[in-house]
Amino acid sequence: MAHLIGIINQKGGVGKTTTAVNLGAALALSGRRVLLVDMDPQSNLTTHLGLGAPRREDVEEVIDASQVPEHTIYDVLKGQKKMKEIIIKRSENIDVAPSSLFLSGADLELGGVIGRELLLRNAIKEVEDNYDTVIVDCPPALGLLSLNALAAVESVIVPVQSEYLALHGVRQLLDTIEQVRSVYNPALTVGGVLVCLHDGRKRLARAVYDTIKGYFGDLVFDTVIRTNVSLAEAPATGETIFEYAPKSTGAEDYMAFGQEILHGKKKACVGE
Ligand SMILES: Nc1ncnc2c1ncn2[C@@H]1O[C@H](COP(=O)(O)OP(=O)(O)O)[C@@H](O)[C@H]1O
Ligand SMILES: [Mg+2]
Repeated sequence: MAHLIGIINQKGGVGKTTTAVNLGAALALSGRRVLLVDMDPQSNLTTHLGLGAPRREDVEEVIDASQVPEHTIYDVLKGQKKMKEIIIKRSENIDVAPSSLFLSGADLELGGVIGRELLLRNAIKEVEDNYDTVIVDCPPALGLLSLNALAAVESVIVPVQSEYLALHGVRQLLDTIEQVRSVYNPALTVGGVLVCLHDGRKRLARAVYDTIKGYFGDLVFDTVIRTNVSLAEAPATGETIFEYAPKSTGAEDYMAFGQEILHGKKKACVGE
């Protein structure tokens, strides 16, 4: 059985997608078979992995059509495709369930569907035996797409940006997790909080780190992801940090995080 991890925070720009991609890549390099599921209509994970921007009839100028996934997680949630029909083999040990801008209409389109919170869980069940780890990247909102992710996974990793207001909205996120746990997914745990975009040279960043640590205590992962320009550049090349800049501090940090997930003591950890 695969280990199912969600990367969630309703704030944008905190490092969710960067973490989903590069944690997945670190685990893949360690020999784990990884499925990355893009649940964000913005499709940043899909494009970060070089799979183009899913096309929409009303947007013409999008990227080379040959790279555009023909079918996406949108089709799966709509019940028009099976999960295995949309999954793309991206590279050794990394498969991707791509996203589409169409997903932005999912809240409304799926509003009347019975069991609409469980669509992703059921889709992942169809394929999870093929993987050791499934990582779901969430959109920056606590709507139906994030509820689907929370109902589908066993544990969540919450990336927080090491800056002022880092904890803003965290209470609401924890309440949502608690609600999903009580209604749909009793086994759901908060695996840990990952401090991202950390600039240890800044006094403010250190103070924020202490605040986060004070709030979450042992739930904060030992690994801290430092601010690193290669991590910001890699998405435009369609490469993971290990492909784009294997010697960067970004690669170092995400490899360390992968090892912490594999061997650490927190609940998000897969264990041996
Ligand atoms: N550790 C980091 N150092 C530098 N840039 C980063 C780092 N982590 C993420 N970024 C960049 O910050 C932006 C937001 O990160 P992203 O992972 O897309 O956040 P989210 O998915 O939470 O919106 C992106 O441009 C990304 O490339
Ligand atoms: Mg994102």
